[in-house]
Amino acid sequence: MAVALLPAAFAAVIAALLICGGGGGAEARILLTLNDFGAVGDGIANDTQAFLNAWNAACGSNEQAVLAVPAGKVYQIWPVQLFGPCRKKLKLLIAGSIVAPASPDAWEGRDPMKWLYIYGVNDLSVSGGGTIDGMGQEWWATSCKRKKTQYPARRLQFRRRRVCNVRRPRLIFKLTFSQALHFEECRGVSVQGVTFQNGPQFHLTFTRCSDVKANFLRVIAPADSPNTDGVHLNDSSHVQIMDNLISTGDDCVSMVGNCSDVRVKDISCGPGHGISIGSLGKNRTTDMVENVKVDTCLLTNTTNGVRIKSWQGGMGFARNLRFESIVMKNVSNPIIIDQYYCDQPTPCANQTQAVEVRKVEFVDVRGTSATKQAISIACSDTVPCRQLELKNVNLTLEGGGMAASSCYRASGKSVGTVAPPSCLVKD
Ligand SMILES: *[C@@H]1O[C@H](CO)[C@@H](O)[C@H](O)[C@H]1NC(C)=O
Ligand SMILES: *[C@@H]1O[C@H](CO)[C@@H](O)[C@H](O)[C@H]1NC(C)=O
Ligand SMILES: *[C@@H]1O[C@H](CO)[C@@H](O)[C@H](O)[C@H]1NC(C)=O
Ligand SMILES: *[C@@H]1O[C@H](CO)[C@@H](O)[C@H](O)[C@H]1NC(C)=O
Ligand SMILES: *[C@@H]1O[C@H](CO)[C@@H](O)[C@H](O)[C@H]1NC(C)=O
Ligand SMILES: *[C@@H]1O[C@H](CO)[C@@H](O)[C@H](O)[C@H]1NC(C)=O
Ligand SMILES: *[C@@H]1O[C@H](CO)[C@@H](O)[C@H](O)[C@H]1NC(C)=O
Ligand SMILES: *[C@@H]1O[C@H](CO)[C@@H](O)[C@H](O)[C@H]1NC(C)=O
Repeated sequence: MAVALLPAAFAAVIAALLICGGGGGAEARILLTLNDFGAVGDGIANDTQAFLNAWNAACGSNEQAVLAVPAGKVYQIWPVQLFGPCRKKLKLLIAGSIVAPASPDAWEGRDPMKWLYIYGVNDLSVSGGGTIDGMGQEWWATSCKRKKTQYPARRLQFRRRRVCNVRRPRLIFKLTFSQALHFEECRGVSVQGVTFQNGPQFHLTFTRCSDVKANFLRVIAPADSPNTDGVHLNDSSHVQIMDNLISTGDDCVSMVGNCSDVRVKDISCGPGHGISIGSLGKNRTTDMVENVKVDTCLLTNTTNGVRIKSWQGGMGFARNLRFESIVMKNVSNPIIIDQYYCDQPTPCANQTQAVEVRKVEFVDVRGTSATKQAISIACSDTVPCRQLELKNVNLTLEGGGMAASSCYRASGKSVGTVAPPSCLVKD
């Protein structure tokens, strides 16, 4: 086998050398740096215009460009909107730091959801080992932190209490999801090997994107910072999220809208809220999530492990989902499916419609639960969860003891050793 493959591999290498090394088809490359456009990089100066000019030059270049954010420097960037498509492939090499203005007031008169907003790009790679710092501290201080209270037994309806800080922001942030780096309508984008920290809210978002990679990232924000999701997908497909260390105040990875063909692998998550599909079906919308595989993850001290959540009244489905080789350490709700999700101050009205949850597998999930209820599955009366599978699951109480599972309107099968014992009824 190896012998047979070797010549093919060599041929590929030689072909690559020929293409890159010389002759007609070769693409020249140009290197631009922020400093070429007058950026100062002292963390104080306003380098926004320089960044915009550099982007426009790199994106409009007839040759493949590398746009570098030089190492050892800190560039303060106000909210910017960068547009594609670019003429050629573009590489954004972030070796230094990009920081947001500290005060949310910098967003006065602008869309609070956007800081580094990139629309309509194809074939962009972001790398370089540098840092994107959202300076979220003042945002968190003015946000309404939601506190979860215990839910009543069967339906697991979450009730939230809002605890607002004294100083109110001048802008209304609480209904929006601010995103530090946000790609919308993109294709062939990879973000690899950079650090995100202290985002005002979400750190890295892809909306309506396909063929996307978010790999080798570090995402760091305090455990009590609100809505600071790590990597967030909205209406995106063919996505790879791998080899990331995510430690924030909200979901490590979350996906909403119509997402499909998503691979999440090798994630160290925690603290935070775990890995979440949803919330789906908010405000009676139709969301369709399918073909998601999450494997080889370690979750530590998170409020949830792997979660699927949907609002009553929604439509669509979450199906063909597989969670495999997941280790939980002191996770409050290691396995949770909640079709009664409600994240608002008043209780949500009971509705019959629901986002269907079907064909979900939990395989080789082990470790400890911070609460007795290690498996919580609460599905709808009218659209029960079907074809669920628990296979080789071993969750015990942190500090020792048996955990418990609870199911409502959930069917499927249990394979191998399942602890706590499965509560699924047969399909
Ligand atoms: C920084 O520069 C950007 C782009 O020119 C501008 O929109 C923003 O208002 C500037 N910020 C301040 C505080 O001047
Ligand atoms: C998802 O994207 C839609 C627009 O495409 C937007 O209205 C919605 O707020 C987004 N939701 C989240 C949670 O990102
Ligand atoms: C998801 O797809 C359905 C059907 O195509 C569509 O009705 C719905 O608006 C889509 N959802 C979003 C958030 O784009
Ligand atoms: C839900 O939909 C209603 C009617 O379309 C709209 O007024 C309301 O703002 C929406 N709520 C949310 C949270 O999107
Ligand atoms: C989990 O949280 C506890 C309590 O906050 C802390 O003592 C412990 O170090 C955390 N574990 C890890 C691995 O972070
Ligand atoms: C487990 O998590 C709980 C609540 O999140 C925390 O209070 C406790 O200190 C943690 N225990 C360990 C051993 O990390
Ligand atoms: C929804 O139904 C449950 C049980 O059937 C009931 O306890 C609860 O009060 C209802 N909620 C509302 C908001 O009507
Ligand atoms: C489940 O995990 C506990 C604690 O780690 C261990 O003692 C027990 O042997 C495991 N059970 C199985 C069937 O692997």
